[in-house]
Amino acid sequence: MSRFNQKAQEWDLSSMRQSIAQNAYNAIINNIDLDKEDSVIDFGAGTGLLSKKIALHVKELLAIDSSEKMLQKLDELHIKNIQTLHQDISKFQTDKKFNGIVSSMTMHHIKDLDILFDKLYQLLDENGYIAIIDLMSEDGSFHTDNEGVHHFGFSEKDLTKLVKKHNFKDIKYTKIYTVTKENRQYDIFLLSAKK
Ligand SMILES: C[S@@+](CC[C@H](N)C(=O)[O-])C[C@H]1O[C@@H](n2cnc3c(N)ncnc32)[C@H](O)[C@@H]1O
Repeated sequence: MSRFNQKAQEWDLSSMRQSIAQNAYNAIINNIDLDKEDSVIDFGAGTGLLSKKIALHVKELLAIDSSEKMLQKLDELHIKNIQTLHQDISKFQTDKKFNGIVSSMTMHHIKDLDILFDKLYQLLDENGYIAIIDLMSEDGSFHTDNEGVHHFGFSEKDLTKLVKKHNFKDIKYTKIYTVTKENRQYDIFLLSAKK
C-alpha cells in the first residue's frame, strides 16, 4: 500500500499538519483574490485540510489526489461544492479551464516539475492563478522516510526560474510560516503566479 494510503486514517490527527494547512489558507486568503464564481483545483488535496477551507470562498473545488484512501476521508465530509478525483495531477486530461490552482505540501512529492508546470498552465483560464505552498530548501530531515520525496524543499531562485520558463507571470515567492518538527524548524513558502 502506498505511503499516503497507509497514513490516511490518522492524517488529520496531526496538529502540525493542521497548523500548516491553516497557515497555507491564511496566506492564500491574504494574497489571492478568490471569487465566489471560481472553479479551483487543489492538487495533492489529500484529506482536504486545505480544500475544505478554500471551498468556502469559491463556486467549486476539484480535489485531485493520487491516493484513493486520502480522498475517501475527504469524501466522508460530504462537502457539496467539492468533487474528488483519484488521479496523478501530471496526467490529468480535460478540456475544462480553471480560474485557479492551489496546493499544499505536495510539490516535493512530484518528480518532474517541467511536466507539472506545463500541465498547470494548460489547465488554467486566461489570467488564472496558481498558489502553491511547500517547504523552503531543507536538508532532507523533514521526512523521517524520504521514499517518494523528490525534492528537499525549493529555493526562491530555482523555483521562480522554473515557473518563468513555463510562461507564468507576476511570480511571487514569500515565506509564510515556520513549522517546528522534532525541535527543528522548517520554513514554508507561498508561490503565487498568473497565466
Ligand atoms: C503531504 S500530503 C499533503 C496533503 C494535503 N494537501 C495536506 O496539506 O494535508 C501530499 C499529497 O499529495 C498526493 N500526491 C503526491 N503526488 C501526487 C500527484 N502526482 N498527483 C496528485 N496527488 C499527488 C499524495 O497522495 C498526498 O495525499
